[in-house]
Parts: sequence; structure tokens; C-alpha cells
Amino acid sequence: MDIAANILERLIEAGFLLALPWPAWRLAMFRPFRYQGSKKAIALAGLLAAYSLLVVAMAIFTPALLRMLAILALFIAIGLIGWMWHGSSRGRRALPGKFEILPWGPYLDHRFYQRQAERYGPIFKTGSTLPCPSLRPTVCIVGHKAGLDLLRQHDDALQLWPPAPFSLLFPKGFLRYMNQDDHPVYNHLFRSAFSPNFLSGCSTAIDAEATNALSRMAADAKSGQADGVKPRPYLDQMLFAIFARVLFGIQPGSDAFTRLLPLYQQVNIPRLTLRSSRKRAQENLGRLTDFLVQEAQRDQADCGHSVSLLSEIARVNPTKFDDPTILGNLIFMLESGCNDVGGLLMWILKHLGDHPEWMERLQDQTPCPQNLRSLADRIVSETLRLEQSEYLHRKAIRDLDFGDYVIPKGWLIRICIRDGHQDSQVFKDPAKFDPDRFIDRKFSHIEYAPFGLFRHMCVGDRLTHEITCTFLAALAKSYALEATKDGPPEHTRFHWAPNPEFRLRLTTKD
Ligand code: HEM
Repeated sequence: MDIAANILERLIEAGFLLALPWPAWRLAMFRPFRYQGSKKAIALAGLLAAYSLLVVAMAIFTPALLRMLAILALFIAIGLIGWMWHGSSRGRRALPGKFEILPWGPYLDHRFYQRQAERYGPIFKTGSTLPCPSLRPTVCIVGHKAGLDLLRQHDDALQLWPPAPFSLLFPKGFLRYMNQDDHPVYNHLFRSAFSPNFLSGCSTAIDAEATNALSRMAADAKSGQADGVKPRPYLDQMLFAIFARVLFGIQPGSDAFTRLLPLYQQVNIPRLTLRSSRKRAQENLGRLTDFLVQEAQRDQADCGHSVSLLSEIARVNPTKFDDPTILGNLIFMLESGCNDVGGLLMWILKHLGDHPEWMERLQDQTPCPQNLRSLADRIVSETLRLEQSEYLHRKAIRDLDFGDYVIPKGWLIRICIRDGHQDSQVFKDPAKFDPDRFIDRKFSHIEYAPFGLFRHMCVGDRLTHEITCTFLAALAKSYALEATKDGPPEHTRFHWAPNPEFRLRLTTKD
């Protein structure tokens, strides 16, 4: 009897100790974490394995030590739960919602925030998610008007979050993180450089790259890949070529393009962390920016054949030609532009696969370029509304009075843009993919805001439309599209995306 009780006691203590780091177990099992943070994921798996072995060894060989550890852990757990409870219910009125450390819901349910808003109202709290997991809650705001009010009222107390390590490598940082003195200067500079004139000058180059990518996708699907091709690698290659050309004037296929690739890969923006060696990263960045300046100067000397954003900025303001802040920003735009526009194009292809009637309508418009462009534009706007416009993240740097609530210092804030686009008062039948809703109505900024709200609104909105509409026009002119494989959407590190198995087949139109 004594032996049985003793074993049961050890099992309970060991079970408790093993279950205690459950947020870490959850994180280790979370697929996007395993994919994207491979070194961190390996370290975490190693730690958990070592910890588990230690607990099992103590249960077998040193039961007295196991008991002491379990009692200590119990006190720590009670303290932590108390601290979280106290922290998550601060304020004049406790924010509604459920706070969990590393919640699963946002990763498993594509419409998690929308459902939470239906349950708790438009302002609620939840746990924080990747890429900024924290022991503090996140305040979620569904509704662009409330989001804009918060940004306006507390402009000086909202920190852009999460920080971007790359932004620390050049003098004034990336536009999104710039201080309030520098931001208007550079924002104006980039916004005016992305003029409609400049963009129409880039359309031939964009069309050439889109045509090239589509023909490779069609050829590969034809030559042996019976279940079609995964589009993302083709889109990534196409977008890198487009951005290199549009931002720096580097022609795809040229010697300069071949030299650009390894220099850019060496900087390796996605792998930079706040702990990376700043010196080495700055050296890599320095090599890349020197190369870009040399190429741009050579192009100027050859009478400026390739119009690029860099040459456009230099034309308006010659002293800014080799400003490291401008170059750093352009390099960051290359990285984030490829990711964002690539994500958007994946969703567009998925919607066209799911709703072939829109692909047919697009093809019907090919005889009239104006109508084709207009329909392509509506398809892009509708996909942005439903998918690629997810959220704005901030951190409160002091307690913030907001309506009935106080948002405590240190809490994260998520303005849920995509979920704000599900308001049935504004969008009839909001879950439906209906590009024609953009024909009759022009939506105001607080109704439709895929490119953000207030001070940090996107400067690449027009370029995004130019690239995606040109791609759609090239697709409709020459190809029929069929989705051959699919599954439910999946959460990647930052965004929801179509299933990684999503495949399609392009066939040449007769
Ligand atoms: C699908 C395409 C895109 C979407 C949905 C998108 C969305 C956004 C959003 C929501 C913001 C505001 C972020 C915030 O307030 O925290 C933003 C900012 C920004 N975006 Fe985009 N973006 C896209 C493409 C691009 C492209 C192609 C570029 C550049 C070539 C670009 C450059 C920027 C810059 C520089 C900012 C910061 C602006 C500032 O702080 O003043 N974006 N974007």
C-alpha cells in the first residue's frame, strides 16, 4: 500500500513539474515556430527534453528533491497566475476577453479575432502572439474608427511593435520606426517618388517579369508536374526581379543583377535578431549599399536608361543620392515588399481558383485594357479586404485612457484591420468574395483601410496595385487557371496564408 501511495505521489509531482512549462510545450509544437525560428526551435526542444529527463531522473533517484522542487514550483505558479490575473484586470473597468499565455486560437482559427469581437465587443484582451509573444495581454480593437481614435489620441505614447533589428543598422532607421522629426521628411520623399508617373514608367518592366514568371509556371505544370505547381517560388523570383528593377534600376538578367543576389542574401534580413552582431551586419549592409550606389551612378553616366525610385529621388534631390537612410529604407522595402505582395498574390490566385467565374470574367475583359485593369483592380481590393490586410501592432509606453478603459503600460495593442472589414453595415454579405462591391461605392478611410491608418500608412500602396493588376492582366490574356490541390489556410510567422500545399495549373488559352 505504502509503495503504491509512494509511486502515485511521485507520479503526481513529476506530472505537475512536466506540465508546468505548458506555454513552452505549446510553442515547441506550433508549426510556424518550428519552421521559421529553426535555431530557437531546436534550442527550445533541447531545453524541454533536458528538463523532462531531469524530472524523470529525480522521480526515480531523488524523490525528496522532486517533492521540494514541486512545492517550490507550486508557489511560483500561484504567484505567476496571481500576477497575470492582477495585470490583466487592471484599469477603471477590466477589459473583457480571455488572457492566455501564447494562445492557440489565433493560429488555429482564421477568424479568431472576429469571433472574439462578436463575443466580447469591439475592444477586448487576449494573449499575445508571435512574432511578439509576451507575458502581458494584447488589447485588440476591431473597428477602424476606434483604431484611428487611439492612434490619434495617443500618438506620442504608442511604440511601433515589434522592433525590426534591420532598422537599427542605418542612421535614422526604417520609416515605420523613425522619430517624429525625421519621419515627415522621409515619408514625403518616398511618397512623392512613388508618383503615378513614375509607376506608369515601370509598367513595361513589371509586365515583362509577370509574363516570364507565368510562362515558367505554365511550362513546368505541363512538363511532368501532373498535380500542378506551387506558385510561391515563381512569385518570389518574379517579385525580387521587379523590386530590384523598380527600386534600384537593376535589370534582371544583367551582370549587376547576378552580383546583387549574393550581396543581398548576405545581409539576410529575416535572420537578423536584436542579438546579431551589429558590426558584421553593418559591414554586409555597407557592401550592398556601396554596390547599389555605384550601379546607380553608372546608370546616370549612361544617360539614366533605367528609371528607378533611387534615380527618381536623386533627380529631385541630388544630395540625397547616397544617403544611407534612403538606401537602407529601399533595401528594407525590397524585403518587405516581396513578402507582402507575394502573400497578396497567393491569396488572389487562391480566390481565382476557388471562384473560377471571376477568372472567366477577367478573361472576357481582355479585349478592352481599361475594363481589364478596372476589374483586376477590384479583385485586388477585394482580396486585400478579405485577406492580406491583417493588423497594426503597437505597444503602450504609459497607461492610456481610452474610452471606458485604461490600457496599462507595457501592454501590446492590435488594431484588427482585416476583422474591421467584416462590418455588415459597411460591406453587404461581408464574408463573400465579391469584387463588384467596389464598383458602386467608394469606401471611406475608416471603412476600408488595407494599407493602414494615420501617420504610418503604407507608401507602397500604388506600387502594390500596379504589380498585382499587371500580373492579373498578363494572366488573363494568355492562360486558363485551375487549382489542383488545396487545404485550409495556415498561419505563418506573421500572417495567414493559403495552405502550403496549394497548387495550380496554368494552361495556354487557345
Ligand atoms: C500587400 C501589400 C502591402 C500591404 C497590405 C501593406 C500594408 C501596410 C500597412 C498596413 C502599413 C502600416 C503599418 C503600421 O501602421 O504599423 C504599411 C506601412 C508601410 N509600407 Fe506597406 N503594405 C504593402 C506593400 C508595401 C510595398 C510594396 C512597399 C514598398 C515598396 C511598402 C512600404 C511600406 C512602408 C515604407 C511603410 C511604413 C510607412 C511609414 O511608416 O510612414 N508596403 N504597409
